[in-house]
Amino acid sequence: MSDLGRVSPEQLLEYARHAATLAYAPYSRFRVGAAVVAGGRVFLGCNVENASYGLCMCAERVAAFKAVSEGHTRLSMVAVSCVDADAALGAAGRMPCGACRQVLSELADPETPVLVDGVGSLTLAELLPSAFRLGG
Ligand code: THU
Repeated sequence: MSDLGRVSPEQLLEYARHAATLAYAPYSRFRVGAAVVAGGRVFLGCNVENASYGLCMCAERVAAFKAVSEGHTRLSMVAVSCVDADAALGAAGRMPCGACRQVLSELADPETPVLVDGVGSLTLAELLPSAFRLGG
């Protein structure tokens, strides 16, 4: 997306909410948006579903992979917004899934803030302690 000198946490959450409006989620009707800062730019992602359910892709990974595919492999801030979350579930209905936590952990430092809309800011290490790593 655009070049930005600095983006505030609240602005990044706004980007994530906007990204959620672009979700392709005809099966779950659960729209998710993500925004990541990398290399001074903001990359957006939304969930993209498929009739073959196992092929569905989360918003966070779309945003992260967009950054990597544009040459930016280090994320400095992440925001995610589950705009259709069931209020009765509280935070549990808004948190990034385990697969996305693992992917984000590869691409950002443990202290990197992950802003979860309606929940608050958590570090990657809080979201995924003991992430899997390979040497090299
Ligand atoms: N989803 C995400 O985009 N991110 C997550 O962290 C959890 C789940 C999507 C996948 C699917 O399209 C829909 O939400 C319902 O699971």
